[in-house]
Amino acid sequence: MQGSATPSLATVITGASSGIGEALARQMARDERQALVLVARSADKLEALASELRQAHGRQVEVIVLDLEQPGAAGRLLARVAALGLAVDTLVNNAGFGLNDSFADMAPDRIQGMMQLNMVALTELCHGVLPGMRARGFGRIMNVASVAGFQACPRFAVYGATKSYVLMFSEALAAEENGNGIRITAVCPGATDTAFHSVAGNHGTLAARLMDSPETVARSGLRALNRGRRVIVTGLLNKPLPLFVRLLPRAVVTWMAGVLVKREKQPA
Ligand SMILES: NC(=O)c1ccc[n+]([C@@H]2O[C@H](COP(=O)([O-])OP(=O)(O)OC[C@H]3O[C@@H](n4cnc5c(N)ncnc54)[C@H](OP(=O)(O)O)[C@@H]3O)[C@@H](O)[C@H]2O)c1
Repeated sequence: MQGSATPSLATVITGASSGIGEALARQMARDERQALVLVARSADKLEALASELRQAHGRQVEVIVLDLEQPGAAGRLLARVAALGLAVDTLVNNAGFGLNDSFADMAPDRIQGMMQLNMVALTELCHGVLPGMRARGFGRIMNVASVAGFQACPRFAVYGATKSYVLMFSEALAAEENGNGIRITAVCPGATDTAFHSVAGNHGTLAARLMDSPETVARSGLRALNRGRRVIVTGLLNKPLPLFVRLLPRAVVTWMAGVLVKREKQPA
């Protein structure tokens, strides 16, 4: 497919090895027609999912094993997609992680990695795919933010701020690209039943007891993307959150966010 051949269109999903990204990959393999490119660090999980989706749906599914926390990873990812003879028609920036801890106690490399993955790689990937989407007059970008992005989050100070960035950045891009045929949606899940909570150390929190399934989040996110909605808060319980944040004093909202993620017991 290299050289002068017209590239086939592809959907690139970061963080496709588990949770919301895996659910998105399954739903897009079933309901859409483009080739899929699954990206994460866990080669074994990606290969198993890719072979299952190829068998079930007869679709081209490629795997790219990459650590998106590394500087320059976004450029390397897009070069590898191009080398496969694929053009990115849909980008799903889903890979991300959070840490439930006081900021002063966090390891510097985890802070750096979180900002690099949640913000920098996401931004660079958007920048890398938009020219091709503009040239084709069509494209879709889903950026997975969080309800944590609507207000300050004690114990998730950096994570919440990275998700505020994703939310604001995505809304601005959606406005800029309005009229270019490019849909950009920020998906804001509330607590979702994935590995996120074990990675974050989110044990025994109130938030972790009110979980949606990753399949529900993926379904709502895709529906919003296809309808051209700029922001979607998934999960019925989470829907009023942006309104509360606007109506209540900021200090009250910050306190409430802290209560939701306060660890009530240590892991066994
Ligand atoms: N679960 C929730 O409650 C919740 C709520 C709001 C928003 N979100 C957001 O939803 C998104 C998906 O998270 P999830 O809940 O599905 O959690 P998850 O199951 O832990 O999935 C995270 C995905 O990101 C990938 N990833 C992590 N670090 C990476 C790195 N350095 N390079 C490449 N890929 C990396 C992981 O794969 P590897 O480990 O194989 O690399 C995995 O596929 C995240 O952006 C998260 O912030 C989650």
